[in-house]
Order: sequence, then C-alpha cells, then structure tokens
Amino acid sequence: MRRKLVVANWKMHGNLERNRLLLQEIVAGVQGLHNADFAVCVPHPYLFQAQQMLAATNVAWGAQNVHQAEQGAYTGAVSAWMVADFGCTYAIIGHSERRGQFRETNECAARSMKLAIKAGLVPIYCMGETLDEYEAGVTEAVVASQLDGVLNIVGIKLFSKVVFAYEPVWAIGTGRTASPGQAQAVHEFIRARIAKHDLEVAAGLRILYGGSVKPANAAQLLVMPDIDGGLIGSASLAADEFVAICRVANGAPGSKRRV
Ligand code: 13P
Repeated sequence: MRRKLVVANWKMHGNLERNRLLLQEIVAGVQGLHNADFAVCVPHPYLFQAQQMLAATNVAWGAQNVHQAEQGAYTGAVSAWMVADFGCTYAIIGHSERRGQFRETNECAARSMKLAIKAGLVPIYCMGETLDEYEAGVTEAVVASQLDGVLNIVGIKLFSKVVFAYEPVWAIGTGRTASPGQAQAVHEFIRARIAKHDLEVAAGLRILYGGSVKPANAAQLLVMPDIDGGLIGSASLAADEFVAICRVANGAPGSKRRV
C-alpha cells in the first residue's frame, strides 16, 4: 500500500508573522507522526521562511506553481530551479485556479512538470472537472483529457516521480465535497487509465483528493483504497484543522513504507 500524503495549499494567503505562528503550530502538532508524509505549499516569497522553519522537521515544503520555461524574459515568473534553490520537495502544477484564472493549458502543465522533475522536485499534478462538466456527466472525459494531455508530453516513466491530485472544481472552497464514493470512483479511474500504460507506476502512484477536505470528512475520504492523501486549501490555514487532518492520515490504513 501507498504512504499517505497531506499537503497544504495556502494559495495567496499569509504574511511573515502569521506564517510563523501557523508553521510553529503545525510543526508542534505533527511532531511524532511518522506513518504519513506532510507538506505545506506556500506563496513564493515565503519559501525562504518555510525552509528556515521546516528544515529539521517532518514537514516538507513546496511551491504552488513553476513556470513552463527554464529561464528567460518572463517578467514575474518563477522557475523550477528557483524554488528548488529553497529546498522545496514539491511543486503544485496545473491547479484549476491556474487553469481558470491564468489560462494555463495541459501543455503548459506538462512543460512545467518536466522542468520540475528535471530540477529535482516532485510535481503535484491537479485535475478535475468544473460544475458544468460535473452536471453534464463528463467528469471521466475531462480527467482523461487532463491526464492524457500531460502523459503524451511527459511520458509514462516520469509519472513514477509525480503525485496526482483530483480536485473537482465545484468542491474547491465551496464547502461542498465529493462523497467518498464519488472521489474513490474518479481516483480508481485515474489509476486504471495509468495502469494501461504501466502497472507498476499505477500501483505506486499517490493520488490526493482536494476540495473542501476538513477534519470532519477526512477520515471517510482517506479510508478509500485509491485516495492516498489530501490537498488542503482553506483548512490548511488553521493549524488545528490541518493537524487534525494530518492525524487522520497518520492513522489511516496505508503502509509505513516510503514510496
Ligand atoms: P479548499 O480545501 O479550500 O476547498 O481548496 C482545495 C484546493 O484547491 C487545494 O489545492
């Protein structure tokens, strides 16, 4: 079985002082939890702070995006190597807010993913359907195209270095979460689609669920066989809530083996 992973996505929240308190409380709260992996993905300006505060702890850190080019005249953009300079383990790629608000495509995500891997980062690749798509019953087709769109560029072998996240857009920040059964069905679909290319990669792949994960629903979600952890937005801004979710992951079925 795969080791659970819980990742905070702070989005565009925080400041030095608030981050300091939040990180202190998270570190204290997850100290001694060794059966799962934990990380916080902070806004780029706070990567140094995360590195300083988390270096000697069991909480990893990461960025929320990296640009799709290695370097060059891209005002305001941040490369995979820049975030790697600050000791990041993870980089979120293809979040629906990047796709929706910044017009990032599967192709952009695939290029960022390749560079992130080249820079030694673990990409967390996000997929998920909008409310309209959900209501039209095309969830699997949307997720399949987001998956195939990167697979065709990145190649199946590199998927062994990627974490996936299924985040239905209608569940993000809405308080409305996919039921454990709905989420499990999509996770199973993603794993099966990857298994058609490589059984071993599919078996080892961690697929996180994101979208209004809270302490109250985490246990039901994380017990599902293909849900390997959570990508947590608003609940990650309150240390007690995030730590409670980490505790659930730590106690959930799943091996202690690192993948
Ligand atoms: P919420 O947990 O606020 O719904 O956000 C989920 C998310 O987008 C994580 O990347």
